[in-house]
Amino acid sequence: MTDIQSPHKIAEQIRPYIKGFSPQTAIILGSGLGDLANQITDSITIKYADIKGFPQSSVSGHKGCLIIGKLSGKDVLCLQGRFHLYEGHKPQVIDTVIKTLKLLGINNLIVTNAAGSLKNDMPPGSLMLINDHINFCGQNPLIGPNDDNLGPRFPAMHNAYDNSFREKIHQLAQQENIKLYDGTYLMVLGPNFETAAEIRAFQILGADAVGMSTVPEVISAVHSDIKVLGISVITNYGTGMTHKDNNHEETLHQASIAADKLCRLIQLFIKEL
Ligand code: HPA
Repeated sequence: MTDIQSPHKIAEQIRPYIKGFSPQTAIILGSGLGDLANQITDSITIKYADIKGFPQSSVSGHKGCLIIGKLSGKDVLCLQGRFHLYEGHKPQVIDTVIKTLKLLGINNLIVTNAAGSLKNDMPPGSLMLINDHINFCGQNPLIGPNDDNLGPRFPAMHNAYDNSFREKIHQLAQQENIKLYDGTYLMVLGPNFETAAEIRAFQILGADAVGMSTVPEVISAVHSDIKVLGISVITNYGTGMTHKDNNHEETLHQASIAADKLCRLIQLFIKEL
């Protein structure tokens, strides 16, 4: 897998492209949610492959582009295609990407993902605002030497999913008549879907949704004082909760149904930032 450079060197490469923009908000788009990027106007697209030292994303449904432009009248930076640990990326790769965003001036991060429901009353097609997470992947993006200029050695994780952002998005959802669940996201390493026994265990642990991403990005963002809004698109029930098997195609299909609502919400949210 890519041996990546320091975030300073990567940011240096990106800066000339984004001259004239000063984005403070970045968006990371999850499985099947790439369409939001099409709403960005006046945009500049940089392929991950053209940024030396930047990791590549290898999952179907995930493109590999950085898009800079305007959304709801604000400058934004959008990562179309994320990096999953199950692809073989080291967790520190994700930290480097987030620290690069910070060095480019990002203070707000919107993360979206596809996730499995652990609740019978939160069906596929639902949107769940993440109120907290359980890091169950056994890895951490902050392992290794700490750069004190970018964040503390032992960062606190309280209010990881910013309270004021959560209040705001709930208000907007209500206003737009969009049902927005609220729950805790548990991250597994993947790439296999869970066993039924694991799903029962995660329910007992207090999780409401399960997925294979997001947590390393959020840990790294909180470490560098970036405020986070996280939303899961519920694409399936956890294994054993129904008689259907989980598969990636179904994940993409359900994500596309809920994606329209999510795009609308994110655009309204950005307008108010
Ligand atoms: N488990 C883990 N990751 C997922 C799931 C799931 O059920 N659905 C979408 N991503």
